[in-house]
Amino acid sequence: MSIAEHFDDMSYGLSPESDAEARAWLARHNHSFGHYIAGGFTTPDASFQTFEPATGKPLAQLARGSAADVDAAVAAARKAQTAWAKLPGPARARHLYALARMIQRHARLIAVVEAIDNGKPIRETRDIDVPLAARHFTHHAGWAQLQATAFPDHVPVGVIGQIIPWNFPFLMLAWKLAPALALGNTVVLKPAEYTSLTALLFAELAAAAGLPAGVVNIVTGEGDTGALLVDHPDIDKIAFTGSTEVGRLIRQRTAGTGKSLTLELGGKSPFIVFDDADVDGAVEGVVDAIWFNQGQVCCAGSRLLLQEGIAGDFIRRLKRRMETLRVGSPLDKSIDMGAIVAPVQAERIRALVAQGVAEGASLYQAAIDLPANGCFYPPTLLTDVQPANVVAQEEIFGPVAVTMTFRTPDEAVQLANHSRYGLSASIWSESISLALQVAAKVEAGVVWVNATNLFDAAVGFGGRKESGFGREGGREGAYEYLKPKAMAGRKPRPVQPQIAARTASASDFAVPAIDRTAKLFIGGKQARPDGNYSRPVLTPKGAVIAEVGEGNRKDIRNAVAAARKADAWANTTAHNRAQVLYYIAENLSARATEFAARISAMTGRTTAKADAEVEASIDRLFSYAAWADKYEGTVHNPPLRGVALAMNEPVGVVGVICPPEAPLLGLISLTAPLIAMGNRVVAVPSAPHPLSATDFYSVLETSDLPDGVLNIVTGEPQPLAEALATHADVDAIWAFGTEALSEAVERLSASNLKRTFVDHGRLTDWHYPSAEGADWLRHATEVKNIWIPYGV
Ligand code: NAI
Ligand code: MG
Repeated sequence: MSIAEHFDDMSYGLSPESDAEARAWLARHNHSFGHYIAGGFTTPDASFQTFEPATGKPLAQLARGSAADVDAAVAAARKAQTAWAKLPGPARARHLYALARMIQRHARLIAVVEAIDNGKPIRETRDIDVPLAARHFTHHAGWAQLQATAFPDHVPVGVIGQIIPWNFPFLMLAWKLAPALALGNTVVLKPAEYTSLTALLFAELAAAAGLPAGVVNIVTGEGDTGALLVDHPDIDKIAFTGSTEVGRLIRQRTAGTGKSLTLELGGKSPFIVFDDADVDGAVEGVVDAIWFNQGQVCCAGSRLLLQEGIAGDFIRRLKRRMETLRVGSPLDKSIDMGAIVAPVQAERIRALVAQGVAEGASLYQAAIDLPANGCFYPPTLLTDVQPANVVAQEEIFGPVAVTMTFRTPDEAVQLANHSRYGLSASIWSESISLALQVAAKVEAGVVWVNATNLFDAAVGFGGRKESGFGREGGREGAYEYLKPKAMAGRKPRPVQPQIAARTASASDFAVPAIDRTAKLFIGGKQARPDGNYSRPVLTPKGAVIAEVGEGNRKDIRNAVAAARKADAWANTTAHNRAQVLYYIAENLSARATEFAARISAMTGRTTAKADAEVEASIDRLFSYAAWADKYEGTVHNPPLRGVALAMNEPVGVVGVICPPEAPLLGLISLTAPLIAMGNRVVAVPSAPHPLSATDFYSVLETSDLPDGVLNIVTGEPQPLAEALATHADVDAIWAFGTEALSEAVERLSASNLKRTFVDHGRLTDWHYPSAEGADWLRHATEVKNIWIPYGV
């Protein structure tokens, strides 16, 4: 081609990155890898093949992790953990810093191996994955350095099992390892079967950087190897990123085991464009939202919600932009999109798109050249998509955007939240007030204003709803790898006698004036239990003091509906919530003697002890009134011109199963932090001593707490907890009682991936200072990070 022809054509030439060093690294290992356990590579006895997505050619043999391999890796991590945790924070910080430096020194090799192994463009691995991974180690070296002062009341969780997906193999490894190691945990990590190579390269670099043996262990394999890790009895926590389906399974498998769990799962994130947006900026945003990493991004902006006035113009400009996208060899520095990770994934994308078209969507794929071989899928746009269409609901995990239109901001929010997922959202408008108003209302863990897919180690990442729970990065992410010192060494709770319910006699619920049977408290009103059963409340000697209603599933449904109706509580000011809590405390204080007498009558405790419980309850209410406007968010300064606002939002509707002991203080300790943060609560009071809760109605009635914010359903904790755990409109459950209760709550909450906070049958000393404060408020809130870039 002549120079003149080049000027006419203006097309890109090939600009390949050299893969010589990466191929030499593979050759040095004979294209075959063992696991990395206790500081060395094992000799594999069973292996499987990994392929290069862009060519379909075999790349290497990987070891298939067996039960014995997982055992050996967990044992190595256990052995290393004590010494690693005992290292002073600054010493651990040096190790993390050395890992960051090692990544920077070998950045090119890592970037090329990643591009070959995953199929993603070198431009992205070089400019995003690898530098961000290094940043994670540097940032968390900082948390290790500051651990003693930043987290004085916390200890490491222990040995962590980490399972990661294939879409950001090296970056996910860094997101997982950096906080775990920084805070004194050791790790067994299982990379995804399609993309294990950069994890093995990392192991080599970590050894060279002098990381002690056993601190990081890498076991390769497929889903069954992951399952072995999940089920291993000597693991203290599982941190998983991947599909919602597998995340749900892991929630069920770990239920009742005492393992802690964080899940980063799928998404179907809205990309909302208002008619006052910078349209060209937003079109470019779509490119980054859905064609970045071939759309294989959990937080991809895959649902384009366009305001009606600009939709036509926007789609025209977007289609024009799509024609200029280049799909090709991942090692070509001037391509926009590389290969899909594996044929099975490309097939999944094809099937979902075909189904979407069959359900009425219109398909647009720009006429651009795809490489003849390898696993490629073109940038795709589906228009005329109804909200119920499968492509508007399911995570496609490929380069496929779907569009829908809306008229008003409220409609945009409604459409945005019409999803079982809640990972991220991208909002485009030149009006800052409109953008922030919508940012506050979308159900998501991460929101980008006039931007998309921005990440930083200091800014927590994670979702709501079925996108999982827990955060990675930042201070909130650090807590996922720590546990309160106060939780260690708690004793098992003594077994409680069963209480039998009986049919209420006709008069039991009839005449309030002489009513010995306390009703339920739902939506601010006393309500008869649906089943018309009641249960006796006994003194320690077995005499009946009173009866309370025996709540059932229907009562739970009514209480949840009432709690949902009280959603406005989330938007009252913190000052207002504080006022209400002060008022409740004041009204309880006026009746302290009466409440103490009840506690004595039910529990047989001395007057002094009962008085102390009431005093502690009043004090706790005052504390949470104080906290209400002080448990605030953070302004992050990520490395860009702009800020990320970490906002503490209420979790939503929360079911609370109160412990049998401490009938008043238990109830207050669990419900006050939730109410202070704007949640709505359905509480099941102490089963043997419920009268402190039923007496409490009248305190609430005189305290300006809006109807439905706190609902109380008396009865047997286990079935009521199960009704709450399976209810689709409950967002979280706190359960304090038996081990069986914790197990059931964790297992059944997998249905819609509720957040859970349980005690595994261990006693909390409700009088200790550690029974209130930030650790509890953290469970009562979810962090939403709103990114607001403001400059160029
Ligand atoms: P996956 O969830 O099966 O795989 C993720 C990781 O979990 C891999 O390391 C895998 O080996 C492991 N794993 C699989 N089954 C397991 C089990 N029973 N116990 C423990 N570990 C297990 O995802 P997959 O099959 O690779 O992709 C299927 C779909 O999942 C994708 O099309 C996409 O929709 C979604 N996905 C979403 C991701 C996200 O970040 N949101 C990441 C990966 C997949
Ligand atoms: Mg799978």
